[in-house]
Amino acid sequence: MIVYADVIVDIQAGDTGKGKVCNSLTQIKGEYTHVIRYNGGGNAGHTIYVDGQKVVTHFIPSGIVNGLKAIIGPGCVVNVDSLMNEISDLESKGFQVKGKLFVDKRVHLITEYHLLEDGQDTEIGTTKTGNGPAYRDKYYRKGQRAESSERLKEYLIDIYSELHSTDPCKILFEGAQGFELDVDWGDYPYVTSSHCTVGSAVLNGVPPQKIRKVWGVAKAYNTYVGAKKFEESNEVFDKIRELGNEYGSTTGRPRQIGWTNIDNLIKACNINGVTHLVINKVDILQEVGNFTIIIGGLPRVFIDVKFFENFLRDIMMMKCPLLKEINFSYSQEKI
Ligand code: IMO
Ligand code: MG
Repeated sequence: MIVYADVIVDIQAGDTGKGKVCNSLTQIKGEYTHVIRYNGGGNAGHTIYVDGQKVVTHFIPSGIVNGLKAIIGPGCVVNVDSLMNEISDLESKGFQVKGKLFVDKRVHLITEYHLLEDGQDTEIGTTKTGNGPAYRDKYYRKGQRAESSERLKEYLIDIYSELHSTDPCKILFEGAQGFELDVDWGDYPYVTSSHCTVGSAVLNGVPPQKIRKVWGVAKAYNTYVGAKKFEESNEVFDKIRELGNEYGSTTGRPRQIGWTNIDNLIKACNINGVTHLVINKVDILQEVGNFTIIIGGLPRVFIDVKFFENFLRDIMMMKCPLLKEINFSYSQEKI
């Protein structure tokens, strides 16, 4: 029985700190029983810090580190070898995975062939994790599902039975990628092959009426990794990259840096029904000493962090009627 489901959704181009928000929220006693990944595969890279120890997850919802039941939902794709490595890595760091991690039987598998094919990509700048070909085969009805994998046997569940039995379930959905990478809403074809919006969470077996809070996650600046030309690079952006450690946690590629585009943020909040907004890494802009946003296609510069935060808070609250709360975060461990 589902009591409620909250959703974490990235409202920029990925890498905004979804993992940190997930880790933070799943530490609240009694708030959640399940954490569920609803889209994507090994292209995701979620970095969290637990007692000062850095942990990176790709397939496994990061809330597992706080002892919740963690489900890889039917909207995801999985590479079994990489998942096994990730399980060993988490176990070696002292986290319980067996008995906590579950894979819905409908999850699609990323095969050796998908990896080879994605490895040839030069146009999109993919993560080369086989994501696109795996989703293509799923929709072409030529895919293989988790239920056919002997190695996944001990992790398999039917998410319907798990969530809709008599036990009360309080769910936190953890998304991958972000609004600007969504296959419909992003800058096609420079997108990923799954849906990264709140609708994608609902596709994983939870009725829309049960969605309670939608946590929209953004950074105080924007980043993008891939073949598209982003904003021209400059010294300030280089400084942000170094101080913010803006290198891909999946591929190690340097992320292109740009300013936060307010119009895009408003659109993403309204389409996803964001109720709680987190703006991460404000501390990095503070260290760099430059507070700029793009609005109406033009840059607007603020003299200090207070003007920056106040402007953002006022305009987001005014333009996003469902928004209730904005948090500005200065920490890599908490919201
Ligand atoms: P998280 O969950 C940032 C980007 C790739 C590429 C495009 C398509 O950590 O936020 P794909 O391998 O999905 O076919 O690549 O999407 N991309 C991401 N960028 N964060 C991610 O995940 C990403 N997952 C994919 O760089 O431009
Ligand atoms: Mg990432």
